[in-house]
Order: sequence, then C-alpha cells, then structure tokens
Amino acid sequence: MSQNREVIVRELPKGALEPAHFEMREAPVPRPGDGEVRIRNILMSIDAANRAWMQGATYREAVKAGDVMHTYAIAEVVESRDPSLEPGQIVAVESRWADQVVVKARRAVRLPDVRPLSHLLSVYGIAGKTAYHGLVNVGRPKAGETVVVSAAAGSVGLFVGQIARALGCRAVGIAGGEDKCRWVVEHLGFDACVDHRGGNLFADLRQACPDGIDVYFDNVGGSVLETALFQMNLHGRVVCCGAVSQYDAQGPSGPRNLPGMVVVKRLRMEGFIVMDFADRDEAALADLHRWVDEGRLVVVEDIVEGLENAPAALIGLLAGENRGKRMVRVAPDP
Ligand SMILES: NC(=O)c1ccc[n+]([C@@H]2O[C@H](COP(=O)([O-])OP(=O)(O)OC[C@H]3O[C@@H](n4cnc5c(N)ncnc54)[C@H](OP(=O)(O)O)[C@@H]3O)[C@@H](O)[C@H]2O)c1
Repeated sequence: MSQNREVIVRELPKGALEPAHFEMREAPVPRPGDGEVRIRNILMSIDAANRAWMQGATYREAVKAGDVMHTYAIAEVVESRDPSLEPGQIVAVESRWADQVVVKARRAVRLPDVRPLSHLLSVYGIAGKTAYHGLVNVGRPKAGETVVVSAAAGSVGLFVGQIARALGCRAVGIAGGEDKCRWVVEHLGFDACVDHRGGNLFADLRQACPDGIDVYFDNVGGSVLETALFQMNLHGRVVCCGAVSQYDAQGPSGPRNLPGMVVVKRLRMEGFIVMDFADRDEAALADLHRWVDEGRLVVVEDIVEGLENAPAALIGLLAGENRGKRMVRVAPDP
C-alpha cells in the first residue's frame, strides 16, 4: 500500500458531534523509527469515551483539532524496528483512525490468540472487564439483591446485567426505546428493562424494582442517575462508570439530589477506571470465559465495516444506535 487513509478531526465540536467535524484524507504510509513498529488496524473500538476525549484531558490526553482521531484498536504488526515485536503479531494499541499507524513498540501489548479477534474488544476486552470489575469489585452485590444498570444494551451494560444474573441477583436494565428494552429482556435474560426515553422513567423504574435498588451501575449520569438515586435502598452502592448523557451535550446537567440522597440513604458512590483493577484481570477473565462457555453470557457485537464509516459509527453510538460493543472493521482478521 503506497497511500494511507486517515480520518482527521477538522474541528472540535461545541455541541453535538457531526460528520462535518471529520475529514478523510490520504497521506504517505508512515515509516517506523528505532523502537517503533508500523501496525495495520484490524478493529477499532468505538466508544462513548471517544467523544469525552474531545472535551479536554480526562484519564488520558485530549483529542485536538487537526489530530488523526484517537482510538483503541486491535492491530497486526507489519514492520518492526524493535526486537520485542515481529511482523504478524497481534497487538492492542492506542491507535488512530487510519489504515496504518506507527507506534512505540513498548506501548503495543501482545494479545492472546483468541478467535474471533473481536472478542478481545468485547467480552474479553475493556467492555467485559469494565462490567466485571465495576460490578464485582466496586458494587459488590450479594445474591438476591437488585442491580440496575443504565445503557443496558450497550457494550458494558449488557455484560453488567448478565453478570448480575450469574451472581444470583435481580437484573434490571435502563435503555432507550421499547424495542431495545424488549430485546434486553428476551435476548440477554434481564429480569426487566425500562425505557428512559418513554417519559415515565421514575414510575417505570419503581415498578421494575419493587424492593428498591441495592446496586446502581451508572453509565450515563444526568437525569437517569438522579432518578435512580431517589430509589436506592439504605446502604446502597452507586458504581460510577461513565456519563454518556454529558459527553455530547453543551453543558452539564444534574443530578440535583446530590449530596442529599447519599447522606440520607448512607450510600457509597464510587468511581473507577478499568485499569485500577488490572491486578485482578486474570480472575475476571477466568470467570468471563467460564460464563461464556456455560452459555450464561451472551456476547453481542455491532461491527461497522470500513474506516470511512468511523465518524458515522461514533455519531450513531452517541444517539443510541448500537446494540452491544460497537467497533469498526478496517481489515479482515488475518
Ligand atoms: N470507567 C471505565 O473504566 C470505563 C471503561 C469503558 C467504558 N466506560 C464508560 O461506560 C459507559 C458505557 O460505555 P459503552 O462502551 O458501554 O457505551 P455504549 O453503551 O455501547 O453506548 C452508549 C449508549 O448510551 C446510551 N445513551 C446515549 N445518550 C444517552 C442519554 N442522554 N441518557 C441515557 N443513555 C444514553 C445509548 O443507549 P440507549 O439508546 O439505550 O439510551 C447508547 O447506546 C460510558 O460512559 C463509557 O465512558 C467506562
């Protein structure tokens, strides 16, 4: 390949993200220097967090106007100037929206040979590990308790509810639209799912959780978090995983019942980043593999074909288009 395709961020969004914020261009194929490797992207992870990176520095550097859009990806090494990696190796990297990218060899993590490779971005990747660590190690539910999760049809949420069920809990999802909610119950086996776009969230959630909420796994923040806080049981736990409702909005909104609800209900509200629990990944992956093998975890992936469709894939994710882990396929599995 003599030319490389790249998708750059033309302009940072001030409100909702739009296709005009991106531009695809051709550029020469990059050449690695000493200690570097050239990789070709196979699957790029499309995450709500990609939008948050455009708002400024978070747990990682911010995306700036003029950057080739940042992404986490699974890739194949095609040229190496470092003894630690050879062409053909499959790695996880902080990559860019492009066919090929040059990265520092020490930042490329070798991956186990799991097929299909997409499972390394979903159930055995960040989504599955985030769901597991957030629920098991932060929420710490006991069998019989009620676990509620928002963005329940999304990549993290769909595993949270299924893991809750595997641990003997009652799992209730919150998702957008009646069809999605029905799918969460019928396809993923949640006990119930309520529609946050239906205009009746408070009453619907109350009906789905007659004994109150013991663990709320929050992926969205905003008014959904506010509603869930009102229905928490005494000594409940709120797992703060993300705030999708705030990423593509102009200004922050709610919840208005903080710290009131935390005080009155003696809640523990705790944030986490999946890497915090890296030392427990082995145990997490063992459980995830076992539950998949036993048929207790349904793996759902939403793969959009083609680098050129990456902007639409991210915009659609923020609008709730996806079911399961969204990713963009740039090249076939080798
Ligand atoms: N802490 C960590 O280490 C970590 C790691 C990975 C991800 N995360 C976070 O986990 C959260 C979920 O990520 P994901 O990859 O699983 O994304 P995702 O759920 O696959 O996609 C986002 C979903 O959010 C929902 N949504 C969008 N706008 C909303 C709004 N205003 N109110 C309520 N829901 C809204 C949409 O579903 P509906 O149509 O159902 O509303 C959409 O499908 C994100 O906040 C992400 O940043 C955290």
